[in-house]
Amino acid sequence: MRILVTGGAGYIGSVVTEELLNDGHQVVVYDNLSKGHRTAVVPGAQFVHAGLEDGQRLRQTLAQQQVEAVIHMAAYSLVGESSVNPAKYYQNNVASGLVLLDAMLESDVKILVFSSTAATYGEPKHQPIDESTPTNPTNPYGETKLSFERAMNWFDLAYGFRYASLRYFNAAGATVRCGEDHDPESHLIPIALQVATGARQYVEIFGDDYPTSDGTCVRDYIHVVDLARAHILALGELDKGSQIFNLGCGGDGYSVRQVVDTVREVTGKEIPTRIGPRRPGDPSTLIASSEKIKAKLGWQPKYQDLRLIVESAWKWTLAHPHGYGE
Ligand SMILES: NC(=O)c1ccc[n+]([C@@H]2O[C@H](COP(=O)([O-])OP(=O)(O)OC[C@H]3O[C@@H](n4cnc5c(N)ncnc54)[C@H](O)[C@@H]3O)[C@@H](O)[C@H]2O)c1
Repeated sequence: MRILVTGGAGYIGSVVTEELLNDGHQVVVYDNLSKGHRTAVVPGAQFVHAGLEDGQRLRQTLAQQQVEAVIHMAAYSLVGESSVNPAKYYQNNVASGLVLLDAMLESDVKILVFSSTAATYGEPKHQPIDESTPTNPTNPYGETKLSFERAMNWFDLAYGFRYASLRYFNAAGATVRCGEDHDPESHLIPIALQVATGARQYVEIFGDDYPTSDGTCVRDYIHVVDLARAHILALGELDKGSQIFNLGCGGDGYSVRQVVDTVREVTGKEIPTRIGPRRPGDPSTLIASSEKIKAKLGWQPKYQDLRLIVESAWKWTLAHPHGYGE
């Protein structure tokens, strides 16, 4: 297929692009590089340097490149920033997202896979979280992602769009070529690896008095390649109708201390930690049930073990000590 990947210069988008190209698809990356990197765009993909808000450029790209489907990953995704600047998140994740949907409608491209998030669920009482768990976002980031999901639903009912909304938990890991390089970095594994390289002094642990086995928060990590494969599977099954899927590795998840211990084992470095206060709105445990996507699409994670995830990220970090260097 000819696929437009918005946000394809970002962390997950670059790996999705890589996997699509490996499978023989043609890819157009559409990214304004507000967060991504030009060098993250995988050779073999066409690159359009433009923003979602530019409807004319979107229509032109969809037509000229004869795009058949869109994987929509472009968004802002910092939870803390979204709480202090919700306008920025509504503008990009909702308003600019609607420009994309309009352009798709006008161009008669009605197949879409969307990067949604566990943040749509908020702080559910029951774990693991499956797709029947009520959505109740506790920050504007999760709220804007849910708003876009709802817009897709109405575009399905009114215009026959077919979408898969993939609610990711914590993406982590790397391929040989593509890895995580965010500024600021807010994710635990790359932060711990920055400590391993000496780029940062310590890992701050936000609270150690949670009702978990070691007092630190428990989260569910999914290898970015397993995540990317899920997009391709979902795309191939859209003729069966629109769907929402959770994507994590399930099991018991990993506590912050377990992640730091794994980084110590993999890197052989000390990784000092400091205990800080809890962050407002941080639930003690968030674990996905990915049973639905396993049952319906036959998705199986290949890199479920945290050690494999951290090893891949460490290899990338060693090979790219300055990230993408831009
Ligand atoms: N990383 C995670 O663990 C995680 C978890 C859940 C959901 N998600 C979602 O997955 C998607 C990708 O996440 P990521 O970690 O790769 O983020 P990222 O910031 O690395 O990538 C996002 C890309 O979108 C681009 N972009 C943003 N706004 C744009 C606009 N208006 N026009 C064009 N390009 C624009 C950025 O330049 C960047 O390259 C996001 O939608 C995010 O909300 C990520």
